[in-house]
Amino acid sequence: EKIAAFRQTLLSWYDAEGRDLPWRQDQEPYHILLSEIMLQQTQVQTVIPYYQRFLAALPTIQDLATVPEEQLLQLWSGLGYYSRARNLQKAAQQLVHDYAGVWPRTAAELVDLAGVGPYTAGAIASIAFGEAVPAVDGNAFRVFARLLEIDLDITKPQTRLVFSAIIARLIDPARPGDFNQAIMDIGTRYMTAKNPDETQSPLRRFDASAAAGTSLQYPVRQKK
Ligand code: ADE
Repeated sequence: EKIAAFRQTLLSWYDAEGRDLPWRQDQEPYHILLSEIMLQQTQVQTVIPYYQRFLAALPTIQDLATVPEEQLLQLWSGLGYYSRARNLQKAAQQLVHDYAGVWPRTAAELVDLAGVGPYTAGAIASIAFGEAVPAVDGNAFRVFARLLEIDLDITKPQTRLVFSAIIARLIDPARPGDFNQAIMDIGTRYMTAKNPDETQSPLRRFDASAAAGTSLQYPVRQKK
């Protein structure tokens, strides 16, 4: 039926056309945490060399937990938002000390780590641990608002919960991390904020706002 067809279309496209990014080469939770924190405020193309250099210097979470702050900030310099780096080290220390190096595997638990909000927790749980939870970032808001003509105001905190509930029904429980990352890729490549190219999108036959010619009306942000 329709949900099965949606998953199949999305994941087949991802297998053939998804971006080949360094943090997609394995499911090591430390690698996923690092990439997701770096990607919070920084573009993919900028993150790539920083990600590789960081892991070359600090290959394990124990290395991150114990690195002197000066070296940590040096590895981060150029990415900005240095509180991200300090929180990342705090999270590594929590994992090593409070969790004895055993990662919590659910989004509900991962939000207890420093610097990890609902989006990042969903990304780590789905990508590293295969939990069938959404990772609702700006891409997911835009893609699902357009596909389903969801006209809820995305500036309201409750709206995230509604999107999460809707996406939770669509996510493929066999490949939740790939599902979430496929949405990011399609959001970046076809269903962009300003000049969407939805006629070329693999999801065009599931795209209600494209059919109606109203893509740019979504997602809805309350006017102040
Ligand atoms: N932005 C945030 N997380 C990402 C990921 N895993 N892949 C590509 N872009 C992202």
